[in-house]
Formats: sequence, C-alpha cells, structure tokens
Amino acid sequence: MKYFKDNREYIAALEAAGDLVRIRQEVDWDMEAGAIVRKVCEEKAPSPLMENIKDYPGHSYFGAPLATYQRLAMVLGLDRDTPVPKIAEEYLRRTSSAPVKPRVIDKSQAPCKENILLGEDVDLFKLPAPMVHDGDGGRYLCTWHFVVSDDPDVGVNWGMYRQMVYDSKTMTGPVFPFSDMGKTLYGKYIPKGLPMPFATVIGPDPLSAIASCAPSPIPETEFAGQLMGEPVELVKCETCDLYVPAHAEIIIEGEVLPDVKLEECPFGEYTGYRTSPRDLRTVYRVKCITYRNNPITTISNMGVPTDEGQLLRSFSLGLELEKLLRSQGIPITGVYMVPESTHHVMVVGVKNAYTGIAQQVASLAFGSKLGPWFHMVVVVDDSVNIYNYAEVLHAVTTRCHPVKGITVYEQGVGTPLYPFLSAEERKWSKGPKVLFDCLFPLDWDSNSETPRLVSFKTVYPREIQEKVLGNWEAYGYKNR
Ligand SMILES: Cc1cc2nc3c(=O)[nH]c(=O)nc-3n(C[C@H](O)[C@H](O)[C@H](O)COP(=O)(O)O)c2cc1C
Repeated sequence: MKYFKDNREYIAALEAAGDLVRIRQEVDWDMEAGAIVRKVCEEKAPSPLMENIKDYPGHSYFGAPLATYQRLAMVLGLDRDTPVPKIAEEYLRRTSSAPVKPRVIDKSQAPCKENILLGEDVDLFKLPAPMVHDGDGGRYLCTWHFVVSDDPDVGVNWGMYRQMVYDSKTMTGPVFPFSDMGKTLYGKYIPKGLPMPFATVIGPDPLSAIASCAPSPIPETEFAGQLMGEPVELVKCETCDLYVPAHAEIIIEGEVLPDVKLEECPFGEYTGYRTSPRDLRTVYRVKCITYRNNPITTISNMGVPTDEGQLLRSFSLGLELEKLLRSQGIPITGVYMVPESTHHVMVVGVKNAYTGIAQQVASLAFGSKLGPWFHMVVVVDDSVNIYNYAEVLHAVTTRCHPVKGITVYEQGVGTPLYPFLSAEERKWSKGPKVLFDCLFPLDWDSNSETPRLVSFKTVYPREIQEKVLGNWEAYGYKNR
C-alpha cells in the first residue's frame, strides 16, 4: 500500500499532478500568507508552497494541504477523481483492519532531529508563525499539526488543538473538556497540580494528520498505522518520554502548566466566523524545538468552507458514526456529513424498516463521543442519494413534517464555538440538537397514502427507461 512518508514526498506528488503552486516571490507572514491560503480554499485552487517568507530565510509554508477530496483520494493511494463514496469505502476498509502498532526508530535516522534547540536557544519567534487572519489575537504557529500527550490509564493521544504564540517560550490554546486530551489534562494532571508533558508536531505526514483529527476509537498512533498499512515511524522526544513522528517537519516539546492560564484568541474558526472571545486558556511552556533542515510549516486557514479541517472532520465523523450505527445493528445504507455545513449536519440513509428508526439514529449520534461536534441529524430513506445535496434538500422540504418530523433535544453537549448560541450558552458548551426525520410514516397505506416519488428512475417501466437511454444520442443529446 503506497503512502507518503512525509510532506516532502506528498508535495512532489501534488506538483506532478498539477495541484501545487510554488510561490518564489517574498510572502509576508503577517496576513499575506494567510490570505493566500484563504483564497485558495475558497477557490479550490492548488495548494501553495511559499518558499520565500519575509524575515525567515530557509523556511517555507505549505498551505491548504488536504482541502479537497482529490487530495484526500491521493493520500489514500486512490485515483484523484475517485468519487466520494468510493473514498469512503477505502477509508472504512483500512480503518476496519487490525490496529498497527508504531515502530520506534533511532534518533540518528529521524529527520525531525536535524536541528535541536534547547535551553536559552528555545525561541518560538525563530519559527515563522503566521498571522493567519486580520483580527486574530496573535500569531498561530499551529493550525495543521497535532499535540501528543499520554494518559496514564488510556495511553497515547494525538489531537489537533490550535496553539497561538504567547511569548518566546509559551503557547496558549483551547482544550475542550470532552476531548481526549481535555479528559487527561483536567481529570488527571490539573487536580494533582502536575505539569503534563506534551509534544506538538507541525507538518505531519498527511495520513498522521488525518488520524489526529479523526474521532479515533483507538490510539491515533495505531489508527495512523491502519491508514498507512504499516507502522508509523516514531522517535523519542529530547526532554520527555513522549514519541513523535520521525519524518515531521517541526517538533515543539514542553509541559502544559496545571496552575496558570493565559489569554488566547480571537481567531477565525472552522464554523466560518470569529466566535470565541479572548479568554484565559491552556498554557504550553516550551522546553525544546527540533526541526528538519529547511522546515516546511503547514498552514490551514479556517473560515468559510472548505478547508481541510471541515473536509476531514466531516468525512471521518460521518464514517465513525456509520461504524457505530452498524455495530448496533441499525439498518443504515450510509452516512455522509456535509463539509459545507462545517461539520454540523449528519445525513443518515436508512432502510425504513421500523417505526422510530430516525429517533434511534439521532439518540445514538447525539449521545456518542462524536455528538458535541454537530447539532443536526437528517434521516432519509434509501431512495435518496445521501451524497447529493439537492436530493437531501428535496427530502427535507417535502417529507419532514414541520411538527411531527422535527425533534428538538434541548440539552446536549456542544462546543463553545457554535455561532448561533448566546455568549452565555457558549461559555458552558451547551449543545441543543435537532433531528429532521424525512421518513414517510410506516402506518400510512403505501398504495393510497404514501406519496410516490416522481423521477425518471421511479415512475417509468424498465423497458421505457432502457429505450430512452438507448436512444439518447439518436434523439440528439450528447451527454447523459
Ligand atoms: C484544524 C483543527 C483545529 C482544531 N482545534 C481544536 C482546538 O483548539 N481545541 C479542541 O479541543 N479541538 C480542536 N479541534 C478538534 C480536535 O482536533 C478533534 O476533536 C480531534 O479529533 C481530537 O479528538 P480527541 O480529542 O477526541 O482525541 C480541531 C480540529 C481541527 C481539524
């Protein structure tokens, strides 16, 4: 199984596919780089590789690394034009295989150890943290990265938790209490007043990045191994017992402080808004920086759809929900989370086999570990193509009874980033949810009461359909 061991191999493949633009003229880290990435996301343009960053000779930026389905298909070893359902099949196939434990390699073999800064030499301003958006509360070094931590009972966690440079040795950022690292930090370190070792990985290879932002049910090191089909190569940190991907571009090691919080934010967020206020957040104290020669810093620019966070979080949340519903024996036909909804709408296809199935789906979805990240579930039957927005919207507007078809769940776990919540509701991560049940009731008479869908495929006998399709070009039509 072919996979890209690092971003350098991946960048070369993107360039060969015509999906990379090398920018050789000077680019300013202060908003210009961010603006380029934003425009690229909004136009679905090729990923930019910025090779000449103002004030930072020898450094480059790699923007929008995985912001399209074509790029996702590529990193899974598929043809770039593979349709989304087929990409989903491949993801499910790989992540349903046996977990693959990581392999530890010697430091001398690990490119991320080519340069090591310790003690007085540690200075985050030596790295080209971009000012991603106008109005951000600071320079965000970590937007497409992950934080490694270790839970004494559960094991290793990789998670993308954004980090802003606070001063030369300090970063700050939000860690939600329902996230895996949040549970370790707030449940096991802070109550004991203990600093928690962390390592931030900037410029991870594409499959490790996907593993880190997926709601993985197993340690992400093994999840990455499943996606790769072989062990991910790790190397030990310089100042703690954590292990990091050996081929990453930059590693920042240190401790999360248990007894102090510092200001972070505002920031342009994945919902497409600047929502969170400047507030006191988690503090990362840096002890060591290691990096490859000529390091390439990855930049994701969150905003209106579609960036890689929205695309990959939608993709993996949908497929992890699919696994969960199948494991419970629910007769589903598929799950798709719409990336343009900034991972807020889960579309679930089912066989309309028994009354209450939509309620069963919604309860499981909202009640699962995935639940805080979305607030709308749309349940449709198997006559609707869940990947086709037009068909889904048609089902919502024609089959969902405005009173009986909509169930509001007033209480739930949400995130503090929902733009539609009041500031007070956000503060407490309140998560009201809603189900749109687009299934015709089973107690209706199927001949006289249930409306019949009127489409080419559903209202003509097979012979007529075949005749029309067979004659399509003869009639004078070119494409069908
Ligand atoms: C670009 C990006 C930035 C994110 N930033 C944060 C963050 O600052 N805080 C947070 O708790 N989750 C954040 N998330 C979501 C977590 O990465 C996500 O929940 C991930 O799966 C970690 O899951 P876990 O905490 O369940 O292991 C972000 C996701 C992406 C894609």
